[in-house]
Amino acid sequence: MTDVGRHPKITLYTMSEVVDVKGYVGSFDVSILKKARYVNEKECTACGECSKACPVVRPDEFNLGLSSRKAIYSPFPQAVPSAYTINISECLGHNPVVCGKCVEACDKKCIDFHMSDQEIVERVGTIVVATGLEAYDPTELDEYGYTRFENVLTSLEFERLINAGGPTGGGLLRPTDRKTPRSIGFIQCVGSRSSSRGASYCSNICCMNTIKSTLVLKEHFPDIDIKVFYLDIRAFGKGFEDLYMRSRRLGVHYIRGLPGTVEEDGNRNLKVSVENTASGKLEIYNLDMLVLALGIKPAQSTRRLQEILGLQLTPDGFFLEAHPKLQPVDAATRGIFYAGCAEGPKDIKESVTQASAASARAIRIMYKGHISSEPITSEIIVEKCKSCGRCAEVCPYKAITVDVKKKNPAVVNTAACAGCGTCAAECPFDAIEMNHFTTNQIMEQVDTLLEERPGEKILAFACNWCSYAGADYAGVSRLQYPPNVRIIRTMCSGRVDEDFIWEGFRKGAPVVLVSGCHIGDCHYINANHWTEKRVEKIRKKMTKLGLRPERLQLAWISAAEGVRFAKVMKELEELRTGVTPEEIGHTISILQDREKGKTP
Ligand code: FES
Repeated sequence: MTDVGRHPKITLYTMSEVVDVKGYVGSFDVSILKKARYVNEKECTACGECSKACPVVRPDEFNLGLSSRKAIYSPFPQAVPSAYTINISECLGHNPVVCGKCVEACDKKCIDFHMSDQEIVERVGTIVVATGLEAYDPTELDEYGYTRFENVLTSLEFERLINAGGPTGGGLLRPTDRKTPRSIGFIQCVGSRSSSRGASYCSNICCMNTIKSTLVLKEHFPDIDIKVFYLDIRAFGKGFEDLYMRSRRLGVHYIRGLPGTVEEDGNRNLKVSVENTASGKLEIYNLDMLVLALGIKPAQSTRRLQEILGLQLTPDGFFLEAHPKLQPVDAATRGIFYAGCAEGPKDIKESVTQASAASARAIRIMYKGHISSEPITSEIIVEKCKSCGRCAEVCPYKAITVDVKKKNPAVVNTAACAGCGTCAAECPFDAIEMNHFTTNQIMEQVDTLLEERPGEKILAFACNWCSYAGADYAGVSRLQYPPNVRIIRTMCSGRVDEDFIWEGFRKGAPVVLVSGCHIGDCHYINANHWTEKRVEKIRKKMTKLGLRPERLQLAWISAAEGVRFAKVMKELEELRTGVTPEEIGHTISILQDREKGKTP
């Protein structure tokens, strides 16, 4: 961090918050709110005289309330820049009548109460999102007694307690009597791997963090009795299994099972009841101290940043990468990358690896000095555009601007356009053309595929990234599915225009399928949400026209779901056999009448 602070080509904004981001790859305008420090960071030498003079005492957040700090303080020992800051909501004020003691104590005269928050706009080419994580709050788990018993600590509090720079200078002291405990228990998976409390995912770091803590304890206090209560130990990194075995060899007792209750006796010792699932017995342990190995969750700012940057989140609330295998550090929006726990729980080594990959990906775009865009982008047919603004509303990348008031035609920023085609499908005036997936091209495909014996065919639209790949997977896996399926590939299911579906039915298709990535997995942020809405709208219209809406199917099939693809096709074939030639003929005549304006 110190190197970052000194690097001539890195501008470090501390105490700052991103409030808005506009633009696209190569030209993002980032608005930053820099909070006032009330101390001149260039002049401050962090001598600490101001802090000594300050009469306000508050719990120190860095030490999780295990120690105190003043209203003027350094957030933590290695903070960059090495300068003090004033928490203005806690400060008594600089008027000498009220306080102003820090101003008097500072020889360098670096305290400036006239500082105010600043809004700064930076233009950048790429963005790396590295917003970190938050620890699970264990207060809801009453059975572990975190809120009732002082000798029950979280893994973070324990970390601070045994840290040489921590509140006890590294001394292991029990909070209640300040004596070194003779026995300590660790409870794993607190807030992780539970569908009812905390998160259902594994937090990745807790097992190794506990193993590390047991090794540190055994090194300093060889006679200490350590119990670890666990579901299973996940020591899957390089050298991790060795550490686990070393911990066991040093006498750490690993008990398979999570405690059901924790009680406290008159001496403030803890009684832990656990069902040992290895022996099948109920066991009770008396311990001096208990540590809850906390799970991790996304940082609080994640959702706000997701809205500002127009990114996608996983159901767990972490940022979603563009592709889990091929683009693991890229966001779906070009020019934005992820590093560290913003994308999912990971340890230091993985975070550093990902950060290196993210910066290399960013440099790859920027070093050229120009951006080459994909040819699959949308184009406005200016003569047809009525400036309604629908395209701008549905574009997941905010790549289209329309001046609705001035009635100027829409403008596509091709550098920001990713080519999903949702705008073209949603435009009510057919005023947008999707290069390489034009309306004519797709209509021609529909007509050609249904030219002969259309009543025997199933017409399927499949998105390039998931469903089409799922069909491919079914093929290479030699899975059997009806041979009468005719697939039309689009980049995203969002491109499937209402007209394509009507054309399919008009040409005699008994069944039409629209398929794409699962909701939340669309490669164009949330374009398939519009697909879902559109299909629903068409089904309603079908009902109104007296057509069976189930003849239009929507299925989410991922690239790995070859089996599901084959299953869906078999189901569609069953559906197809239920559509009679009379029904098809009736549909065709209704749709032809509709075309001529005879029906709504
Ligand atoms: Fe598959 Fe959007 S990319 S549905």
